[in-house]
Amino acid sequence: MEYCFSPLLILLIIVILSNCEATCNQIVPSNGNPSIETRVSIGECVAFQCTLNHTAQWKLNGADISNDAHYNINTTSGTLTIQEVRSNDTGSYTCGSGSISLLIVKIPVIIVTGQYTNLTVGSSVGIKCTTMPSIPNSVIQWDPPSSSDNNELIINPVMLSHNNNTFTCVVSSDLVSMSLTESITISVLDTSVSSVTVQSLSSYVIGDNVSIVCTISLTNAIGPDVSSLVVNWFKNNEMITDNIINGSSSTFNSILTLKLVSLTDAGVYTCNASINGSDTILSDSKLLCIEGTH
Ligand SMILES: *[C@@H]1O[C@H](CO)[C@@H](O)[C@H](O)[C@H]1NC(C)=O
Ligand SMILES: *[C@@H]1O[C@H](CO)[C@@H](O)[C@H](O)[C@H]1NC(C)=O
Ligand SMILES: *[C@@H]1O[C@H](CO)[C@@H](O)[C@H](O)[C@H]1NC(C)=O
Ligand SMILES: *[C@@H]1O[C@H](CO)[C@@H](O)[C@H](O)[C@H]1NC(C)=O
Ligand SMILES: *[C@@H]1O[C@H](CO)[C@@H](O)[C@H](O)[C@H]1NC(C)=O
Ligand SMILES: *[C@@H]1O[C@H](CO)[C@@H](O)[C@H](O)[C@H]1NC(C)=O
Ligand SMILES: *[C@@H]1O[C@H](CO)[C@@H](O)[C@H](O)[C@H]1NC(C)=O
Ligand SMILES: *[C@@H]1O[C@H](CO)[C@@H](O)[C@H](O)[C@H]1NC(C)=O
Ligand SMILES: *[C@@H]1O[C@H](CO)[C@@H](O)[C@H](O)[C@H]1NC(C)=O
Repeated sequence: MEYCFSPLLILLIIVILSNCEATCNQIVPSNGNPSIETRVSIGECVAFQCTLNHTAQWKLNGADISNDAHYNINTTSGTLTIQEVRSNDTGSYTCGSGSISLLIVKIPVIIVTGQYTNLTVGSSVGIKCTTMPSIPNSVIQWDPPSSSDNNELIINPVMLSHNNNTFTCVVSSDLVSMSLTESITISVLDTSVSSVTVQSLSSYVIGDNVSIVCTISLTNAIGPDVSSLVVNWFKNNEMITDNIINGSSSTFNSILTLKLVSLTDAGVYTCNASINGSDTILSDSKLLCIEGTH
């Protein structure tokens, strides 16, 4: 904070400080002194000191100010105190016909922390919204709302469908006339299935336990949540459900297990794989032959 005034005024200000019931950081002398510009943050306290005439009329931008819930005018001490500065308190304060004190209320900036670009499908992210400096008793919310704590946007798991989604952080408070907002646009690293291969032996014997393995490769890794990887098995074009997906970040195995196979298990087995939200569906098929026992 920069002040330019005479030692005489400094003496005066110290006296005011000891009398100021609520401890006010900012004491601004008005009158008998060239213009002074004071910068405060929303919610801070500021007191103006009328140095020449304690009963003179206080004005903001030329309009009379009277004692109310917001302005505290003390004609004994000659001070105008604003306990909690609002965003629209910016302006020129005068008492009587004296010089001007310019008050500038700094509008906080919204700070968004956490990664929201190049997100990996299946990862989880928390994106926090705060203001710098903070506004007392402000309410911080995401729009559309997040299921978690109001100032943190949680996306878990990230899906391809989140790409290009826009979220807006809205900061509202009685001390600001218009809510502060900041929008972010999520970007998700594109990924799709690049290859699907079904592996099995060319023939099995009745009573064998058969594992058909579908190996799926992706253009970009996903995880740790792999629910976006959609794998469907078909036997002769009819869907079968029983399969396990496991594997690492960009290569997965889906294993179809057939216990104690019989002749009715013979047929064409197809594995179809895609990333939910991607247009690319790849598939591979294998003909499974079952032979009678020798
Ligand atoms: C101080 O201000 C009051 C009210 O505006 C006025 O009546 C009075 O004459 C002023 N006194 C001086 C010395 O300027
Ligand atoms: C006004 O200022 C005087 C002198 O500083 C102080 O004694 C008095 O308590 C103040 N009145 C109010 C209502 O703050
Ligand atoms: C996202 O990643 C690509 C390469 O993987 C890079 O070129 C780009 O700058 C990144 N974008 C952001 C916003 O980090
Ligand atoms: C996302 O936005 C970028 C740039 O605005 C655009 O090029 C791209 O097509 C969009 N993607 C989707 C899936 O809408
Ligand atoms: C300043 O904003 C407050 C709400 O934050 C409002 O009640 C008051 O009327 C506004 N004052 C002016 C002069 O616009
Ligand atoms: C197939 O699995 C069953 C039970 O799961 C087991 O009893 C049987 O021995 C297995 N057959 C072969 C050939 O491994
Ligand atoms: C997949 O899981 C099965 C059983 O859960 C395991 O035997 C197999 O080794 C796993 N394969 C890979 C590639 O992790
Ligand atoms: C794909 O994702 C949407 C949500 O974006 C979900 O409703 C749907 O069930 C998913 N489909 C599959 C096959 O997982
Ligand atoms: C599997 O995916 C292919 C596209 O690669 C599609 O033509 C076919 O109809 C799908 N099979 C089934 C049974 O859905």
